Amino acid sequence: MAIRHRGPRRLAAALAAALVLGAVPPGLADDPGCVLVKKVFRQNERLGRGVNVLGYDPAWKDWRKARFQEKYFRLIKEAGFNHVRINLHPFRDEALGANHAIAPIWFEMLDRALRQALAARLAVILDLHEFQAMGENPAGNKARFLAVWRQIAEHCREAPDTVFFEILNEPNKKLTPEVWNRLLGEALAIIRRSNPGRTVIVGPTSWNNINDLDKLNLPEEDRNLIVTVHYYSPFPFTHQGAAWAGQHKTGVPWNATESERQAIEKDFDKAQDWSRRHGRPIYLGEFGVYDKAETASRVRWTSFVTRQAEERGWSWAWWQFDGDFVLYDVRQDRWVEPILRALVPSAATKHVPGRSGEKPD
Ligand code: BGC
Repeated sequence: MAIRHRGPRRLAAALAAALVLGAVPPGLADDPGCVLVKKVFRQNERLGRGVNVLGYDPAWKDWRKARFQEKYFRLIKEAGFNHVRINLHPFRDEALGANHAIAPIWFEMLDRALRQALAARLAVILDLHEFQAMGENPAGNKARFLAVWRQIAEHCREAPDTVFFEILNEPNKKLTPEVWNRLLGEALAIIRRSNPGRTVIVGPTSWNNINDLDKLNLPEEDRNLIVTVHYYSPFPFTHQGAAWAGQHKTGVPWNATESERQAIEKDFDKAQDWSRRHGRPIYLGEFGVYDKAETASRVRWTSFVTRQAEERGWSWAWWQFDGDFVLYDVRQDRWVEPILRALVPSAATKHVPGRSGEKPD
């Protein structure tokens, strides 16, 4: 699309007006009816409900050692989810050889996961999850970061449009807004060379923080972008007992009091306001509560956050399928039912005795 560069504010206002009124804003005559803006919002609807998978799985070094089994994709679909967000760690998995070439064995696993997820009629996000290395040393890791994207993008250029690319999970620390805005632009340009029509997901700094949305600079002319935020507030509640996050205290409740609910609504309204002003759809790509919180509070928070996202038309993905923040108990081979029901209320009907005949939406 050849939308000319206009002041970001003017373009955003025009897009917002178009979304509200369904009219063609001045200057977007080459995109009648804002087709491209509507299209990316439609892409976000296709994502719908999701779950993070395969992030910390031995499968990436040897798929025969996978904890995540093919049948889980089908179970995820049957439970009422629409997509999986596959967390990729090519640096950590030592998948890169000379000149940052990605090892065939790693691509083999990626292809297996893609094939199986798509066969289960799930959309797939390929999320580059090397946020720690990138946050610590963006300059030192830049070459391999861009090389990885060039290779993944070329490798997946023929994938259907239900495959999405997410440039980087949770840019943080030395990825300041200035550094990140430049780097995301470079990565996007590389992706666009082989994937001009791919829907790409990108989020703000400070670990995809809603409060950093205003610092995110996206190329105005690229309307095929979904913007992602992550949500773990209040942090002492969602990460209680998570030593790696410096949260040692446990027994922190979340009671859905008016002030607790309002705090979440306020944050989400802020993101929604940004989304309207910029004409970009929102994807809540991670939210979750660590397993050490008591179940009733986890369920209350999860259910509230999920409904708040859905009321605003956002897509979302739970953190995560197994490992920690567990949604599926791999050892016992069954869903963590209270969390599943909080996320997808209609899934409950499949699991409540006597109502097993009902299908989720
Ligand atoms: C990280 C996980 C962490 C989770 C919740 C994810 O982005 O990859 O290691 O457990 O966020 O903090």
